[in-house]
Amino acid sequence: MKKSIGIIGAGNIGKAVAGHFAKAGFPVLISNSQDPESLTGAITLLGQGVKAVTSAEAAKADIVILALPWSGVPSLSGLIDWNGRVVVDATNHFITHAPDFQVADLGALASSEVVQQYLLGARIVKAFNTIFFKILEQDPHVGNGNRVLFVSGDDQKAKEVVSQAITEIGFAPVDLGSLAVGSKFQQAKGALATLNFIKIG
Ligand SMILES: NC(=O)c1ccc[n+]([C@@H]2O[C@H](COP(=O)([O-])OP(=O)(O)OC[C@H]3O[C@@H](n4cnc5c(N)ncnc54)[C@H](OP(=O)(O)O)[C@@H]3O)[C@@H](O)[C@H]2O)c1
Repeated sequence: MKKSIGIIGAGNIGKAVAGHFAKAGFPVLISNSQDPESLTGAITLLGQGVKAVTSAEAAKADIVILALPWSGVPSLSGLIDWNGRVVVDATNHFITHAPDFQVADLGALASSEVVQQYLLGARIVKAFNTIFFKILEQDPHVGNGNRVLFVSGDDQKAKEVVSQAITEIGFAPVDLGSLAVGSKFQQAKGALATLNFIKIG
């Protein structure tokens, strides 16, 4: 049986990711900051496998994907007991948007390490955050290859679970190592941010 996918944030990234998982037959639970009814129109095109829920319900899925603005991350702390949960951090730590795109000053920490501090005990995997949503939502099969999604995290088993799911939706996972090292390449202003790679063969 396919793992359930909970997506917190139903905007550009949340809907792009939901579309891929729904197409591959995963049950998808998606939320925003309001009542689930507010998402009725937005999720219609994503198919029957996608259900609007509260964020607390989405957070209890087998794999939880954070697709909300950086400013919303602190609000997740008390949502559920995060201990042991597999959480994919797709956020970028922007505090302003176009045209200046400023990022929060996190000192020496990677942004996913800060997310880890808010979600105590969660098994964080950084993924789905490097590609512009208009590319992310496209077919990941390109020519003879598959679009790359980088994964970083400190829990090897969680990375394997997320990498398996990424493979099942047609992307090519590439493991960059730990949150402290790998996710810094992925995060906003990192060397791999916004790059669109295709893995051939
Ligand atoms: N856009 C991209 O191309 C892109 C690419 C890679 C990564 N990212 C990152 O992905 C994240 C989402 O970006 P986006 O472009 O999808 O943003 P977006 O289109 O503005 O959507 C944000 C979603 O998050 C919801 N949300 C806000 N605060 C929330 C909270 N406290 N609890 C639950 N849901 C909440 C919003 O719901 P409401 O309508 O209720 O506020 C909305 O559904 C950001 O961290 C961004 O930096 C974006």
